[in-house]
Amino acid sequence: MSAAQGKFRLAIVGTGGIAEYHLANIRKMDDVEVVGLCDIERSRAEAKAKEHGGRAYTDAAQMLDAEKPSGVLVCTPPFARLAPIQAACDRGIPFFCEKPPAASVEDARKVEAVVAKAGVVHTVGFMYRHLELVDRARDLMKGRTLLAVRSTFLNGPLFSPTFPAWFKLEEKSGGPLLDQAIHALDLIRYLCGDVKRVFALGANRATTRGPDVTITDTQNVVLELASGVGVTHNHTWASEPARVHIELLFREGHLLLDLREYRLTGKLNKGEYDEKPGDDCYVTEIRRFVQAARSGDGAALRSTYADGVKSLAVVLAANRSIASGKPETL
Ligand SMILES: NC(=O)c1ccc[n+]([C@@H]2O[C@H](COP(=O)([O-])OP(=O)(O)OC[C@H]3O[C@@H](n4cnc5c(N)ncnc54)[C@H](O)[C@@H]3O)[C@@H](O)[C@H]2O)c1
Repeated sequence: MSAAQGKFRLAIVGTGGIAEYHLANIRKMDDVEVVGLCDIERSRAEAKAKEHGGRAYTDAAQMLDAEKPSGVLVCTPPFARLAPIQAACDRGIPFFCEKPPAASVEDARKVEAVVAKAGVVHTVGFMYRHLELVDRARDLMKGRTLLAVRSTFLNGPLFSPTFPAWFKLEEKSGGPLLDQAIHALDLIRYLCGDVKRVFALGANRATTRGPDVTITDTQNVVLELASGVGVTHNHTWASEPARVHIELLFREGHLLLDLREYRLTGKLNKGEYDEKPGDDCYVTEIRRFVQAARSGDGAALRSTYADGVKSLAVVLAANRSIASGKPETL
């Protein structure tokens, strides 16, 4: 930070679980100060303001007018994206939007139009794209023949007493695919290209459906990429310990991206790989957002809103396939 630049004035809309995670990282950034925290639950915004500084608000537009932040993190649930992003865009304020970009493609298109018109620096929080091991995998993939992709995402939030209730409602969270598989499927798009066709199965293997649980807890997804490469993705919210693996299978060997351990292993021809770069993608994504918002240059940001909508379309097609029992073409 140059003395002339001053501190980056950050505001946050939606002060729940992920906001707290970002705030813990932001606390360690000397050049960033939190100036405003907004939540429809005033007590939550006030508690965070007390802990992290800044003033508490219940209305995003009012906060942006009063605090004039240098950038804003939108950490609301996916069904509450348009109003805060519109408020940021109307004022020319750069924004970071947590994933997924919205709850439906229809809502996402409305946001996309607002963002395109405003032309502000922005990004979507697909943090895995920022990992050094992902850059390394992209380099190692060059010139090789990809045969197939195997992806596994296992974890057990359904059994955590602090898991917010709205995640268990399909109509609110979109379930494990919209909320979480989108991270893995977005990274597969980033590494391997766009998706043409989707087929998915969903089951309640560890939960009982009812008014409080309208999601399936376990899903199996098959994707056909535009290149013709096939992808299988197994997902569950009902398994511990957690595991997040993407395995790239080549004519020349294989690479495994372990997205829990942040480790890349594999064998390609005579080369053997076992690398753990040690970077934290949650820190990097915020750092790059702050730098981009300061400079007005979004080149280092890895995910535009419009590109995020493509990943959204994939997981929503998978959810439709679970409901219909049929493949969905994108
Ligand atoms: N990148 C990641 O690893 C990661 C991890 C967890 C959550 N997320 C994403 O972050 C988003 C939030 O998830 P969470 O776990 O923090 O949920 P949460 O329920 O803990 O927090 C959401 C907060 O937003 C507030 N809110 C709702 N509507 C609002 C509105 N219109 N204006 C202001 N505040 C509003 C709620 O009161 C709540 O405090 C989701 O989209 C989720 O998928 C991302």
